[in-house]
Amino acid sequence: MSRTVIVTGGFGSLGVAVGRAFAQAGWQVALVDRAPQPQPAVCDEFSGHLLLGNVNLADLTETSNAFSQVDHRFGGVDALINVAGGFRWETLDDGDLATWDLLYQMNLRTAATCCKVALAHLKSRGAGRIVNIAAGAAIKAPLGMGAYAASKAGVMRLTEALAEELKDHLITVNAILPSIIDTPQNRAEMVDADFTRWVQPSQIAEVILFLASNAASSITGASIPVNGRI
Ligand SMILES: NC(=O)c1ccc[n+]([C@@H]2O[C@H](COP(=O)([O-])OP(=O)(O)OC[C@H]3O[C@@H](n4cnc5c(N)ncnc54)[C@H](OP(=O)(O)O)[C@@H]3O)[C@@H](O)[C@H]2O)c1
Repeated sequence: MSRTVIVTGGFGSLGVAVGRAFAQAGWQVALVDRAPQPQPAVCDEFSGHLLLGNVNLADLTETSNAFSQVDHRFGGVDALINVAGGFRWETLDDGDLATWDLLYQMNLRTAATCCKVALAHLKSRGAGRIVNIAAGAAIKAPLGMGAYAASKAGVMRLTEALAEELKDHLITVNAILPSIIDTPQNRAEMVDADFTRWVQPSQIAEVILFLASNAASSITGASIPVNGRI
């Protein structure tokens, strides 16, 4: 029987790559995002799967409704990959305290909400996988990344605590800590950088796919740096 994965932030650069890796491995894929819809090419590529837009994944009711739709369509949920998130660069002196609230909402609140909603679905399967996307900056914050790093450090701590909570349910919870990912947005913002050193979204997706596999059943509570050649 085919397994089902929910990919949050599924219309973004990494989300599409994660969805693609799971689809190619034979999973049923649900991409969930707050944008109304992804690029037309993504709609075509995932035509046999489920695309749910206009979902604020920081909101418990909206997330609950979306995940119930996935469960209803595919008959269960086996894995949750929390890719939804965002980034802002600003120093504390020149920045706005609202940025701390924004990044908390985008990165930590979405992950916590999605994990909480997914639990009933995963527990009813008797086993499951959760993979959260944190960031290398969660370990040591570079200049201008205080709010971002704090929110992603929260994702790491959520991962650890939830891994302990779910050990007896055979649900593993792990986090990925990417460095700079080779995305169109990063290329546009860092035109002079050596893109060849950046990790590809597809490379991160392969690590996530491994964590979702039976071979990774003994890995839980881990935060795994995936850096390319940074
Ligand atoms: N890009 C990097 O170099 C890098 C490095 C380390 C970690 N990461 C992390 O990796 C993940 C993916 O990055 P990416 O470059 O693929 O970003 P992306 O293209 O911006 O994709 C993230 C997606 O999440 C969505 N999202 C944010 N908040 C949401 C909410 N409340 N409800 C529903 N959807 C929401 C975004 O929608 P909007 O566009 O509307 O915000 C966007 O579609 C993020 O968690 C990011 O922090 C990225």
